[in-house]
Amino acid sequence: MSSVRWAFCTSKWNPTRSEWLFALSCIQSEERERVLSFVFRRDAKSALVGRLLMRKVLSESFVLSNSEIKLGRTGNGKPYVINAKDNFYFNVSHQGDYVVLAGEKHCNVGVDIMKTELKGNQTLDEFFHSMRRQFSCNEWQTIQDRSSEEEKLEMFMRYWCLKESYVKALGVGLGLLKKLRTIDFHIDKEFPRLAIQTVTKNTKLFLNDSLSEEWCFEESKLDENHLVAVALQRNDVSFKKNENNIFQFLTMNDLTSSLSPLMTVEESLWSKFAAKINS
Ligand SMILES: CC(C)(COP(=O)(O)OP(=O)(O)OC[C@H]1O[C@@H](n2cnc3c(N)ncnc32)[C@H](O)[C@@H]1OP(=O)(O)O)[C@@H](O)C(=O)NCCC(=O)NCCS
Repeated sequence: MSSVRWAFCTSKWNPTRSEWLFALSCIQSEERERVLSFVFRRDAKSALVGRLLMRKVLSESFVLSNSEIKLGRTGNGKPYVINAKDNFYFNVSHQGDYVVLAGEKHCNVGVDIMKTELKGNQTLDEFFHSMRRQFSCNEWQTIQDRSSEEEKLEMFMRYWCLKESYVKALGVGLGLLKKLRTIDFHIDKEFPRLAIQTVTKNTKLFLNDSLSEEWCFEESKLDENHLVAVALQRNDVSFKKNENNIFQFLTMNDLTSSLSPLMTVEESLWSKFAAKINS
């Protein structure tokens, strides 16, 4: 496995009692506590699915059983394998209806997914105004050049995804926020719109006004209103530019069929889930 792009639709997953309990039994106790701490079902499902995706990709890549995989988090919250014997880079993102994972054998990777929707009662202008400082002049101009509000929002979300995927590959946290403006993405103006399950790789990253050859980006749409960006950090190993890494949609059975439980979990963890707000 050299490149993995997986997506799971959490909004369509209504877990049965046995699915929920089994999935919870496959993750580490501190992560189980975290999953159970969310108020909304949607957040609990996303956090759990993220862990299952990581465990599936790592057990398949390292050819290890689930119990042999020990995951930790860096000080900035980025998950990593504590007992890794080999390299495998991975990153997860959850937003809107999906959880996605991008994995790479040979290069560092970050992923971000965004649903193209405005939250709350804000107008597009109010929303843009609150975000103004995070974008370069070039990026704002490209957003404003789009003709409809829908296209402006999509372009905005595209930049957001690109920036987050880069920040997430680096594994830094909010500390980089002040510098986001100096991370300047140039989108090919001939192809301003992404297409569903078609990978675009021609966006360029400029850091402090210089083209970065080190990074490249895969952008696509999972469906009409979900954008995904994958940041890839090139290194010495030959970079396969022509791979068309479209996201593969997985089922809960795909996620759990190769995982064995780490421990038995109490039946009461189902009622804890059932009591969460269904949103
Ligand atoms: C930490 C941060 C990178 C997470 O991003 P997010 O968009 O809120 O959430 P996502 O769903 O994309 O990613 C969350 C997942 O990424 C992983 N993650 C957590 N911290 C991470 C970090 N510092 N770096 C990389 N991955 C991280 C985790 O797997 C997490 O899911 P989990 O906690 O359920 O396991 C983000 O909150 C952050 O600090 N961003 C700073 C930059 C910024 O504000 N950008 C705005 C763009 S304009």
